[in-house]
Amino acid sequence: MSDAALIDGKATAEALRARIAAAVATLPEPPGLAVVLVGEDPASQVYVRNKARQTHEAGMRSFEHRLPVTTSQGELLDLVARLNADPAVDGILVQLPLPSRIDANAVIEAIDPAKDVDGFHPMNTGRLAAGLPGLVPCTPLGCLMLARSVRPDLSGLEAVVVGRSNIVGKPMAQLLLAESCTVTIAHSRTRDLAEVCRRADILVAAVGRPRMIEGSWIKPGAVVIDVGINRVAAPDLGEGKTRLVGDVDFAGARERAGAITPVPGGVGPMTIACLLRNTLQAACRRRG
Ligand code: GUN
Repeated sequence: MSDAALIDGKATAEALRARIAAAVATLPEPPGLAVVLVGEDPASQVYVRNKARQTHEAGMRSFEHRLPVTTSQGELLDLVARLNADPAVDGILVQLPLPSRIDANAVIEAIDPAKDVDGFHPMNTGRLAAGLPGLVPCTPLGCLMLARSVRPDLSGLEAVVVGRSNIVGKPMAQLLLAESCTVTIAHSRTRDLAEVCRRADILVAAVGRPRMIEGSWIKPGAVVIDVGINRVAAPDLGEGKTRLVGDVDFAGARERAGAITPVPGGVGPMTIACLLRNTLQAACRRRG
């Protein structure tokens, strides 16, 4: 079989952001997105900077709240309450992970579900499970859009999601079920993961372990969506150098898959584009 088609997340995200900017330009008031970052985690700081830039580029307002790592849970809950009450704020995102002293679930539950652009509030996860409209987590939404860009009709296909996190694995499974896939959620305790993956017409890898999914586990012709972003040593590039790799062994998988997302340039760019989409959706719903 010839090499898999590459699914271009960068171009797909750019096109989505352009559609969002065009819709924002028709609104009387720009939607507003508040992003809250507690502490100095370098990866989170990069995400937050990129979010602010792309929010502005889409014609939306960005409100950034950077709080010291010593912030108490009470102080964070007070800020969330102020953002809930602020009419200029349509979307609220509290960057995870939070310092371990803070109960992330308590913070998520404090966010107004109508402003929960991450889709993490139990009201929104419940609505997703019940097949009701609501705000859907950004990364799995981006994965679904990429899968549908190469297989517009997913109905009846075998989908395997590797990973059971609240942020990706569980909502991904719900979205694929809503597309009428036959869905399996696999995880670190799954017996014979290779055999389970070999069933997949659609394989979504969200485990956070570099190149864990081997090329020989891929069903010929499958659509492979790789959510992993892992930094690994790359001695071939020079001493001390690193590179980003996914959860899938890309070179091996590409020989068997029908289509595959690269890392970087696959799922990553879609996440912020979907965040902007959710912010626009929240603004339109809130303002009628
Ligand atoms: N940290 C990593 N991914 C995400 C995400 O999608 N939302 C939030 N709030 N934090 C994250």
